Amino acid sequence: MNNGLEDVVAAETVLSDVRGAEGQLIIGGYPLVALAGRWTFEQTAHLLFTGFFDDLPDAAEFTARLGAARVNVFEQTRALLGPISKLPTYDGMRAAMAMLPDGTALPDALRLVAAPAVLLPALIRLQAGDEPIEPSSNAGHAADVIRMLGRSDGAEALDTYLVTVSDHGLNASTFAARVVASTQAGLTSSVLAGLGALKGPLHGGAPGPVIDMLDAIAEEGDSVGWIERALNEGERLMGFGHRIYRMRDPRADALKAGLRSFRDVDARLRFAEGVEQVALEALHRRKPDRVLETNVEFYTALLLEAAGFPKHVFTGVFAMGRIAGWLAHAREQALTGRLIRPASRYVGPVTKDAA
Ligand code: ACO
Repeated sequence: MNNGLEDVVAAETVLSDVRGAEGQLIIGGYPLVALAGRWTFEQTAHLLFTGFFDDLPDAAEFTARLGAARVNVFEQTRALLGPISKLPTYDGMRAAMAMLPDGTALPDALRLVAAPAVLLPALIRLQAGDEPIEPSSNAGHAADVIRMLGRSDGAEALDTYLVTVSDHGLNASTFAARVVASTQAGLTSSVLAGLGALKGPLHGGAPGPVIDMLDAIAEEGDSVGWIERALNEGERLMGFGHRIYRMRDPRADALKAGLRSFRDVDARLRFAEGVEQVALEALHRRKPDRVLETNVEFYTALLLEAAGFPKHVFTGVFAMGRIAGWLAHAREQALTGRLIRPASRYVGPVTKDAA
C-alpha cells in the first residue's frame, strides 16, 4: 500500500514543476534561479495568478491593489488582534484568516495574500508587549512586513524567501488546498486547509527545530557527537531529506544567496555550514542507498532568524509565501470542475450477524 501517494500524479498544473532528479524547480515557466533575488513576491504572485482570475490587472496595478488589501485587512482585523494574540502565533493568524470572506474572486485572493503579512508582524509585536504598526499601501510587500516588525533591514532577503517558497508542485499543503477547492468551496476554506497541513514538522514546521538543533549543538560544542546521538535515538535531522529531490534542494542555495545580504551573519553561517557538512556525512554513511540532502528548511531557518523573526513564527512566514501557490492551485483545481475523491481499500472485518 502506498500510504504516502509517492509518484501518484493527482493533478495537471501549469504552476510549478519539481524536477527531483535534476534538483530543479520551475515556477510559472521560469527556473527558480531566474526569479529568486530578481523578481518581487508581488510579481511572482501575479505570474501564478495569471489565467486563474477574471480582471487580473498588470503587475504594477496588482502590486498597488495588494498594498491596499494590506491596509484593508489590518482595519478589518484590528479589533481581533488583542484576543488572538493570546493564542500561539500561528493559530492566532489562522483564526483571524478564518473570518475573511470565503469568495473566489481576485479581491478575495488579495485579502488572503495580504493577511499573513499583516497579521504576523502585528501578533509578534503584541506578544512582545509592543503596539502593532499599521501597514503602508505604498511599500513593497516584503519591505512592509519588515517595517511592520519595527525593523529596517532584511526586506530584500525576505522577498527572496517569499519568491523561493511561493509554489512547489503538489506538496502536502497545496494538495490539501486543492482537495477543498475541488468541492467548489471558497478560497478562504482552501487556504485554511493549506495552513493546517503546513503546520506539521514533516512539512512547514521544520525550520524552528533547525534553530533548536543549531543552538543545542553550539551549546554542546560537539556537532559529530550531537548528530550521532540524535540519529542513534531514531530522530530525524530537521532540514534534511525530501520526498522528491534526489539532489540538493535548489531552494537551499537560493536562500543561502539571500542570506548574504545581511551584515553580521558570517559567523552563524560558517557554524551552520559546518553542522550541515557533519549532518550530510552522517546521513550518507547511514543511508548510502537513499539520497538525503539539505532541504529548503535548513537555510530558511538561518534567513528568517537573520531577518528578525522569532523561530516560533517561521511556519507562519512560510505561509506568507506559499499562500500565492495555494490560491493559484485552488483556482486551477476549481476550474477543472472535478471533485477530488479517491478510493480506499477496506481492510477491516465485516460482522455478518448484526445484533
Ligand atoms: N534525518 C534522518 N533520517 C531521515 C531523514 C532525516 N531528515 N529523512 C529521511 N530519513 C530516513 C528515514 O528515517 C527513512 O529511514 P528508514 O528507511 O530506515 O525508515 C529513510 O531515510 C527514507 O525516508 P522516508 O521517510 O521514506 O522519506 P520521505 O520521502 O517520506 O520523507 C521528509 C521526506 C518527510 C521530508 C523526511 O526527509 C524528513 O522527515 N525530513 C526532516 C523534516 C524536514 O526537514 N521537513 C521539511 C521538508 S521540506 C518541506 O516540506 C518544505
